[in-house]
Amino acid sequence: MSSISTPADRQAYWDDFYSRQDVALPLLPSQFAVFAASDFPGVDSVVEFGCGNGRDSEFLAMTGLQVLALDASSEAVELCRQRTRSANVRYEHCSVQNSAEVLRAFVADKRRVVVYARFFLHAIDEAMEAVFMDLLATGLPTGSLLYFEYRTKEDEQVQKKFGQHYRRYIDHEALICKLRALGFSLDYQVQGRGFAKYRDEDALVGRCVAVKEQP
Ligand SMILES: C[S@@+](CC[C@H](N)C(=O)[O-])C[C@H]1O[C@@H](n2cnc3c(N)ncnc32)[C@H](O)[C@@H]1O
Repeated sequence: MSSISTPADRQAYWDDFYSRQDVALPLLPSQFAVFAASDFPGVDSVVEFGCGNGRDSEFLAMTGLQVLALDASSEAVELCRQRTRSANVRYEHCSVQNSAEVLRAFVADKRRVVVYARFFLHAIDEAMEAVFMDLLATGLPTGSLLYFEYRTKEDEQVQKKFGQHYRRYIDHEALICKLRALGFSLDYQVQGRGFAKYRDEDALVGRCVAVKEQP
């Protein structure tokens, strides 16, 4: 983990990252987005947390899904709004701790939704993760699905394409236990390499798909 340790530092890092013209950000959807889109069982609405440059939200919207995409970086959201080509996606500048109201309004008329978060869990600290988990446990209709992909503990020593910045490597098994304790059942989980390959970096990641059970 790098010395960038306060939420304000991390936000400044992401704002700088998305405002830089010299960073070649991937525009194609991630492997995880393609996996998720072909796996969603009969849902038509997705909330993405930590949408970054919007590549996955944009792709999911292009498949016909209604997408609410949130990110705490104003620069990221500005970038997304500039490059969007779909009327199905709405980008909101919103940190997870301020997202309860926007989430509530989005799910209000929906039977269930997918919450999609790729490379988001390891970008937030434990306190923010607790806020996120509480939001998922209390703010989603029964039957809603979680699709998460994150760097695992085993990835800590792997050389990174985008260099050193805050990454909180996730304990895959512990995350699954946490989700179960919050009332989610596990539909699918896997960890390893080959799922998030980017040029010469092949991150060790975890994926899980969980369903919110009847309380
Ligand atoms: C590693 S990037 C992942 C971007 C995108 N999901 C992808 O896979 O390409 C993490 C993203 O999470 C956002 N983020 C970090 N903390 C956040 C928070 N508390 N609330 C919402 N977004 C946050 C950052 O601004 C950044 O865009």
